[in-house]
Amino acid sequence: MIIKEIKINNFRSHKEYFLKFNKKTTMIVGENGCGKTSVLEAIYEGLRGKSFKATDKDILKRGEEFYRIELDYYDGEKTIVVYDGEKNKKTFQVQDKKFGRLPKKNKYPVVVFEPDDLNLIGASPNHKRTYFDRFFSQLSESYSNSLLKYNKALKQRNELLKRDFLKAEEVFSWNVMLAKYGTEILSFRKNKTDEINKIITETYRGIADNKDAVQFVYTTHTEAQESEYLQQLERCFEKDKILGHTSFGVHRDDFEFRFNEKEADGTASRGEIRSIILALKFIEAGMLEKEKNIKPLILLDDVFSELDEKRQKCLVRNFKDNQVIITSVKEA
Ligand SMILES: Nc1ncnc2c1ncn2[C@@H]1O[C@H](COP(=O)(O)OP(=O)(O)OP(=O)(O)O)[C@@H](O)[C@H]1O
Ligand SMILES: [Mg+2]
Repeated sequence: MIIKEIKINNFRSHKEYFLKFNKKTTMIVGENGCGKTSVLEAIYEGLRGKSFKATDKDILKRGEEFYRIELDYYDGEKTIVVYDGEKNKKTFQVQDKKFGRLPKKNKYPVVVFEPDDLNLIGASPNHKRTYFDRFFSQLSESYSNSLLKYNKALKQRNELLKRDFLKAEEVFSWNVMLAKYGTEILSFRKNKTDEINKIITETYRGIADNKDAVQFVYTTHTEAQESEYLQQLERCFEKDKILGHTSFGVHRDDFEFRFNEKEADGTASRGEIRSIILALKFIEAGMLEKEKNIKPLILLDDVFSELDEKRQKCLVRNFKDNQVIITSVKEA
């Protein structure tokens, strides 16, 4: 699916906005704050069902009652998203059918590259987990479901842990859920991390043109077996009651980048880090394409100008067959 045009109303600062896209590359150039990122956010929402950065309430233009996004594709299809602020309700219209959420078959793979991604290597475990969870959720609907259910169970267990005189059996059903979905999440993360790790050095060398080695490592203290996972949660009960939250589980995992066998954060130079992140983006796009059998849409928010000419060329070459939408700042 290739996007032909977008129409948006009451989305962030845009009262009414319209833009036509090229089949290959489109540049959106404008001053700071003119609403470039918002356009990418609206495109993402039309293709993935929700924003990559905020809630609908944040997005709705201040003082307005609804927002609307319409995406028209070159093949004649269209997706319309309408958010009603008063009811806090969103509807998706795909061709003539209406849905409460974007159907799986109408979701389209998207790779977003924003300036903050360049800080991923030194980011907190929480930030890295959010990043890779979003990517893995695009790869697999079942991973996305496991994550949703895990987070719900975690929230419930944590709420109970704050109560006085809580007995171990009262959290048992949540332990069972956490063990079930936790082990599913763990095994998916392990598989995908291995897959990324197998190709990251080669991809990196294609960009940096040298002999450095990059490793991508998943660090977890949890158990691969559901029964052991469950036992560990039970063992942590007394400690968790004192802490008031769940101390064991995949919500504490981390991802690490290594550069020539050492932690990349603190070792790799700024340029090397840029190449590692670029390699990661190429890998993301490649894995999504392999899984979904379609070329993902590439959204480059303000990063093209952050890269030197060599890396820019590499990026253009790598995504020559994808639809690419680039934003860039024009100084006032
Ligand atoms: N809900 C909202 N209602 C009205 N305005 C909003 C809302 N949310 C954000 N804005 C404003 O929308 C403007 C557009 O922001 P956006 O991030 O899209 O601009 P940008 O062109 O990407 O800027 P930059 O070049 O600095 O990245 C900002 O001025 C912001 O304050
Ligand atoms: Mg922006």
